[in-house]
Amino acid sequence: MADALQNYIDGKWLDAQDGERFDVFNPATGEVIATAPSSKASDVELAIDSARRTFDEGGWWPGTTARERGRILLNAADIVRRESERLGQMETLDSGKPIGDALSDIEDVAYMFEYYGGWATKIEGDVQHLSRDAMFMVWKEPMGVAAGITPWNYPMMMATQKLAAAFAAGCTFILKPPEQTPLTCLELPKILEEAGLPTGVFHVLTGFGETAGAPLVASPKVDKVAFTGSREVGKIIMRSGADTLKRVTLELGGKSPNIVFADADPAEAFEGSANGVFWNQGEICSAGTRVFVEKPLYEDAINAFVDHAARIVLGDPVDGSTEMGPLVSKEQQDRVQGYIETGKGEARLAGQGSRPQDPRLVGGYFVEPTVFADVDNHATIAREEIFGPVMSVIPFSKVEDVVAMANDNEYGLAAAVWTRDIKKAMRTAQAIRAGIVWINDTQPAPTEMPWGGYKQSGIGHELGKDGVEDFLERKSVYLNLV
Ligand code: NAI
Ligand code: MG
Repeated sequence: MADALQNYIDGKWLDAQDGERFDVFNPATGEVIATAPSSKASDVELAIDSARRTFDEGGWWPGTTARERGRILLNAADIVRRESERLGQMETLDSGKPIGDALSDIEDVAYMFEYYGGWATKIEGDVQHLSRDAMFMVWKEPMGVAAGITPWNYPMMMATQKLAAAFAAGCTFILKPPEQTPLTCLELPKILEEAGLPTGVFHVLTGFGETAGAPLVASPKVDKVAFTGSREVGKIIMRSGADTLKRVTLELGGKSPNIVFADADPAEAFEGSANGVFWNQGEICSAGTRVFVEKPLYEDAINAFVDHAARIVLGDPVDGSTEMGPLVSKEQQDRVQGYIETGKGEARLAGQGSRPQDPRLVGGYFVEPTVFADVDNHATIAREEIFGPVMSVIPFSKVEDVVAMANDNEYGLAAAVWTRDIKKAMRTAQAIRAGIVWINDTQPAPTEMPWGGYKQSGIGHELGKDGVEDFLERKSVYLNLV
């Protein structure tokens, strides 16, 4: 019997008012593991009203001290660590990511609570004396009722990096988790309740984007929407949010360049570049999927990538020896497989690229890690976000050329640069229009480091100090002293 999950609204566990539910699948087998409420506007309204009341009546902010808010988040960190094994198993079952990766996500979740627990007591304003007769202050106040609409690639992390920052800032918060992977997000209310979060501050509603997400964006009672997901939905949210001049932060996708110069340490650069595409089944917004390699290393690089892809162990993600699990859904598997077919007509298929034949894998949504060589930077597979384990390798000869190609894309989330020449590394990092640049590494996303995109990869930031700032308004208070 699959678990019947429920929404968490105003401290109560509830079904959708119309009783409608949807199925949640184990992507490794295609089995239904749970059902969840398909929430509609009337359900969302209940959560919004409670979050609004709690904020406006001041029971949360400023009714609690910064110290108390910080303590609650630190308590949540301890509870997540205590429950990490169970939460990691749940994340793997729901998303398909290998158990080792899931456990490391859960540790990141605990640390995010800890990090923003620390920030709660360190939000400070400014004071300036204009003369003896006049001065002003800048107060930092929470934006109010915030909503988080989140994706399935890092289910618990993507939710926590929003709500922990929002709670440190003093906002109340409504979460609409991804329909593909709601399980760990529905553990968050239990964790935060035990941690001491008052009723009415936090709500979680499951459902689909158009029916459960859109009402949060449209509501005049919601002050801010923090979204991570596709660029297309990011645009819908910005358009719909315009009616109420919603504060929005958008963490959208990317088609990030990964540049290997001929003077890089080849073993390190090849290994890193491959991981930058294949980690988490390639379901990473910052994946370095356009791999530019300087001509002297080009053939060696292709061989190394093909070899790397062939060695990756696909399997049941609960098995500790599995390195790559299934994609999150049948829809995503079909999408990625569709891009692989497109790629076969656009570039040279250097490695893999078929559906896995192993009988243990056929029930799940697996895709083989795939390497395309001699890709044109304007090909579909080099332009569009695939969000699966597909690498496009592009040769180059000159620094100017590779910078121009790297920037010739509508996205601008991340980039990686591999070279032992520090000046070349820094000059390339300066020239690239992306919000995150890694030098001789790829993908680390420390909680302390701000995360956000240039161009069509997003607006605003999460993580780091900026992550809290984006849940705060500034109020300038002028004092006449004569
Ligand atoms: P999506 O952008 O449709 O979904 C993300 C979240 O937005 C989910 O919670 C969804 O229910 C919600 N949503 C969808 N439509 C909405 C609407 N009209 N109003 C409010 N909320 C809405 O992403 P999806 O369909 O799961 O994946 C499609 C593609 O998006 C992927 O192949 C990938 O390229 C990209 N993607 C990027 C992510 C990132 O981290 N930047 C994460 C997930 C997907
Ligand atoms: Mg969608």
